[in-house]
Amino acid sequence: MKIAMVGSGYVGLVSGACFADFGHDVVCIDKDQSKIDRLHDGIMPIYEPGLDALVERNVRDGRLSFTTNLAEGIEGASAIFIAVGTPSRRGDGHADLSYVYAVAKEVGENLANEAVIVTKSTVPVGTGDEVERIISECNPAHKFAVVSNPEFLREGAAIGDFKRPDRIVIGAEDDLGREIMAEVYRPLFLNESPILFVSRRSSELTKYAANAFLAVKITFINEMADLCEKVGGNVQDVAKGIGLDNRIGSKFLHAGPGYGGSCFPKDTLALLKTAEDYDSPVRIVEAVVKVNDTRKRAMGRKVLDALGGHDAARGKKVAMLGLTFKPNTDDMRDSPAIAVAQTLVDAGVSVAAFDPEGMELAAPLMPQVEMKKDTYEAIEGADAVVIVTEWDAFRALDFDRIKKIAKAPVMVDLRNIYKAADMAEVGFTYTSVGRP
Ligand code: UDX
Repeated sequence: MKIAMVGSGYVGLVSGACFADFGHDVVCIDKDQSKIDRLHDGIMPIYEPGLDALVERNVRDGRLSFTTNLAEGIEGASAIFIAVGTPSRRGDGHADLSYVYAVAKEVGENLANEAVIVTKSTVPVGTGDEVERIISECNPAHKFAVVSNPEFLREGAAIGDFKRPDRIVIGAEDDLGREIMAEVYRPLFLNESPILFVSRRSSELTKYAANAFLAVKITFINEMADLCEKVGGNVQDVAKGIGLDNRIGSKFLHAGPGYGGSCFPKDTLALLKTAEDYDSPVRIVEAVVKVNDTRKRAMGRKVLDALGGHDAARGKKVAMLGLTFKPNTDDMRDSPAIAVAQTLVDAGVSVAAFDPEGMELAAPLMPQVEMKKDTYEAIEGADAVVIVTEWDAFRALDFDRIKKIAKAPVMVDLRNIYKAADMAEVGFTYTSVGRP
């Protein structure tokens, strides 16, 4: 089957490459000429483990190609995916659908065969109806269906998540939509991945509900961590104790500096806006958004405490290890590191940082932070080392070396990757999140 993927960003490129790997004939389309040129040269626009090899293999075998020409790219495609960005709209927090609708119009104007148009972008409830209306207005000569098929992949684990998903959700309103989508995902049917066929609106809402629920889980355990610190408990024991209850489940119960990334902050906000529009508030999510926002600066204050308090911290130096919102990505969007660094800088602390992949994107977002070329260069002369992102490279630090080059053996571990007892043994003053 021929598939066109409009938008070669995170979701589009990963999905396109994986569909090609399933044996489909895939064209990835993007307006950004330099991105397409680089893809032709085998250069990935994002850092994602395994993606370059996957792209290279499928390009070599002739199943994957790239173009900036939408009309040419969608020709003969039975499924045309829309995988362009839906960022928060400036000013009001609604999802900005202008890119999705622009693609819908261009597809409508150029549709040269029967096809299913699939929104893979995260879009608010009702977007599919609007996409259908836009395409109809173009009076295409061929039958078409508009389907919702949200993507649940995580950055850093995107290929595995795409190929072995917990479930696939397809929101289709007619047989054409259901039949083509069944064909698109046939390799996963064979894999026995659960595929849910639901209505288009249910499918659109499912994506937001999933992300919001996960954000609730993280925020819940973060507040339990704060309470643990007050009452003398250990949040990891609490998380394990509740997580073994199958109704709760053990995943997404890691306390930390608050969630960031390209999805949770934007999607929780967009869900609030939809809920507002339909006069059906989702108050739990409202609270989660607020709690998570305030948490990021609170983590900066935690570091100030480790430096002896707000006043004593002035003039001291902190080494931040990890800047991206999570490991195995170069994505800095809404990373807690930004607010942590700002809180420190506001208090007169100088900050040096190292991140294995994120520094290029981090530098313009945190101009007052000195970017160093490795872990130990960042730690040189520091009064405290702060682990902000749990990259594997920070899990086995050389403590003797740190003691020699840092001003003081102080560590603030915002991801709970070390054990307090081990740190005491190597002579560090150690603070973590929600643990004694
Ligand atoms: C998320 C969803 O998991 C994915 O299904 C959706 O398609 C897109 O959004 P992603 O943003 O790539 O994926 O990252 P994820 O691994 O879910 O982490 C999101 C944030 O939550 C990160 O900042 C992470 O550090 C934080 N997190 C996650 C925690 O603080 N604790 C946890 O237990 C889990």
